[in-house]
Amino acid sequence: MRLSLRFIVPLLVVLAALAYAIVPLVDKLTLQWFVRDLDSRAGAVATTIHDPLQQMVETDNRGGILALFARITQDERLYAIGYCASSRAKPIATPTLPESITCGGLDTLAQNDSAGRLIESANGPVLASLRPLVTPRAPAGRLVLVHDMSFIARRSAQTRKYLFLFFVGLAGTVALITVAVAQLSWRGWVQGLQALLRGEGILRPSGKAYAPELRPVAQDLRTLIRDLVQQRGPQDDEQVTWTPDALREILRGDLKGEEIIVVSNREPYIHRYTDQHKVEVWRPASGLVTALEPVMRACSGTWVAHGGGSADRAVVDRRDRVSVPPEHPAYRLRRVWLTEEEEAGYYYGFANEGLWPLCHIAHVRPTFRTSDWEQYNEVNRRFARAVVDEATSDNPIVLVQDYHFALLPRMIRDELPAATVISFWHIPWPNPEAFGICPWREELLAGLLGSGILGFHTLYHCINFLDTVDRFLEARVDRETFTVTYQGKLTAVKRYPISIEFPPAPDLVAKPVERCRVDIRRRHELPLDQAIGLGVDRLDYTKGIEERFRAVERLLELEPDWVGGFTFIQIAAPTRSRIADYQAYEARVRAMADRINQKFPDAAHPPIILHVAHHDATAVYEYYRAADVCVVTSLHDGMNLVAKEFVSARDDERGVLVLSQFAGASRELPEAIIVNPYDVEQCAAALQLALAMPMGEQRARMRLMRALVRDFNVYRWAGRMLIDAAGMRRRDRLAEWSAEPEWRVRDTAGGRVR
Ligand code: G6P
Repeated sequence: MRLSLRFIVPLLVVLAALAYAIVPLVDKLTLQWFVRDLDSRAGAVATTIHDPLQQMVETDNRGGILALFARITQDERLYAIGYCASSRAKPIATPTLPESITCGGLDTLAQNDSAGRLIESANGPVLASLRPLVTPRAPAGRLVLVHDMSFIARRSAQTRKYLFLFFVGLAGTVALITVAVAQLSWRGWVQGLQALLRGEGILRPSGKAYAPELRPVAQDLRTLIRDLVQQRGPQDDEQVTWTPDALREILRGDLKGEEIIVVSNREPYIHRYTDQHKVEVWRPASGLVTALEPVMRACSGTWVAHGGGSADRAVVDRRDRVSVPPEHPAYRLRRVWLTEEEEAGYYYGFANEGLWPLCHIAHVRPTFRTSDWEQYNEVNRRFARAVVDEATSDNPIVLVQDYHFALLPRMIRDELPAATVISFWHIPWPNPEAFGICPWREELLAGLLGSGILGFHTLYHCINFLDTVDRFLEARVDRETFTVTYQGKLTAVKRYPISIEFPPAPDLVAKPVERCRVDIRRRHELPLDQAIGLGVDRLDYTKGIEERFRAVERLLELEPDWVGGFTFIQIAAPTRSRIADYQAYEARVRAMADRINQKFPDAAHPPIILHVAHHDATAVYEYYRAADVCVVTSLHDGMNLVAKEFVSARDDERGVLVLSQFAGASRELPEAIIVNPYDVEQCAAALQLALAMPMGEQRARMRLMRALVRDFNVYRWAGRMLIDAAGMRRRDRLAEWSAEPEWRVRDTAGGRVR
């Protein structure tokens, strides 16, 4: 639009100026043409009447002359005609002869004998032309022929009108053509450039044949851009301040706005019916969701997930989509429906009774059933179809999440070969011996190797994966570059430690720490100086909740001063409750809390308070801010985001984190008190150390941990993957491009390729 205005406005100005200059010129020229024309007509009239007039003059037939003149002036243009015998005579003329024309004044008219002369009469402008009338007997007289010129004024006004319209039309047409040409050539340039940058060369209008003469230019451009990108690449990760905007910038810049599709089993928003049959929205307790949700809010795109809420179907459109977050929609959630049987086999069975214990090595035996495996296959295929369905291009970036979808990367690659598939395994990857238990280990590995990039939280898990592939597949494993080449395709195995949004959303930390401390203690009927330990987990056997309780028990045994003065609050979100191992675990945890509380009957306040319930993020942050120590004792954990959330919640730089050495987070937060959860004595000592830690030391540790979470927040986690995806796409294009020999040109005559 701006471009159009820039063209049109000056053009109109130039054309208006032109019209302004041309109209008087045209007026003048037309007048001259008319004068000449009428003058020559006067000549013709004079010649025609010459002979009869001569006769009448000679016979002094005045009446005849007047009658002749009257007849001639019936021509509407010939306004008057007169005859002067001499300069002193009175003209014999039609009554219309203007008074200003007298025989004596004819000499003045005669000075302009090349054409007639324009004079003003009472009836407007007239043209007077003089012609001699030579008679042999009488002295020579003169004929004056007067033409009406008022029609010229009318014609001139008309001409002006037509000229004006002509110029307006011309201006419009020229402007339109200019803008169209400008737009087309601009678009052409942009497309050409984009094609160059994509490595496709400049396409001819047919869209098929290359323009070989432009190859050198394309090559130079690509080299230049590659150099620039390479210079910039390593800086990005280190030097960017990681915010939602920085992430958006990568999407817009490095990835040229390509579409993003995320696939996970758990959906970020669950719609459920309340007892009053109202629809309410739930945020599930899931590290994966905690991490990915802010990323998706920043990136938009589509999140494909299982629609498991009782009211999920009620709120989707006819393509099973709903925009979320409900309060400020920023991206699309596409729900995939599963039958009870599918959910039982794929989710509860293969994923959570098979792969989950297999990868966590938390002393719960994995169970593998063929029927579960079949459902797992079928549901992965269903999600692959949903991805293809959602993709609006043939090369989207698909972020596949977790152990529910080990087969999905290859399925997507088969359907959309140009897509960039990045898979992230949110849980640990065990060593080859442990993984080898799985009857479908080869299929799972081959499925995952459909990804261009496969991410884990820690280097240890990356190494375990390479070892596993080496052990079970015919693949080339490069331990220097951390890549696997399987069936001719390369997968980069990379470490991307997941994180959380930092700084946290303002409403999560809106309540001052002091207020949180008071409120939480009052709510639990504890004195305001009560020391509080906190655990926040899904009620999962991998989380080491029993081990934690044992440590509390041991602390109270070793340091009786804490009995009644220290309370451990455990928030445990129910999870996967249909699985027997989870039911048993919940029962054990409840029983242990009761047992320990009963063990100290004289305690003024209970040693353990257990809340088995879902808590939303605001409630959980209030606990984080109220606690003196937060305890994470996972027996095995990919990362554990509770540890990072606790750190991010403590903007007062107080509070101590006790963290399991078996959680991925321990690699990043060494300033926590790192423990082996199986070592009860050590954990009890860690609790004592934490509760007694001087404020200065708490602050020093907390500052370092907060700096880490700030610098490595979830935007950086996602940003690094997207930067790598962009790099991979560039390399793929380069490979395609260089695979095409320079001499390969299209033989236009035969349509063959030489
Ligand atoms: C872990 C898994 C996630 C999962 C979450 C909650 O963090 O890695 O994929 O979503 O647990 O488990 P759930 O089975 O309730 O989704």
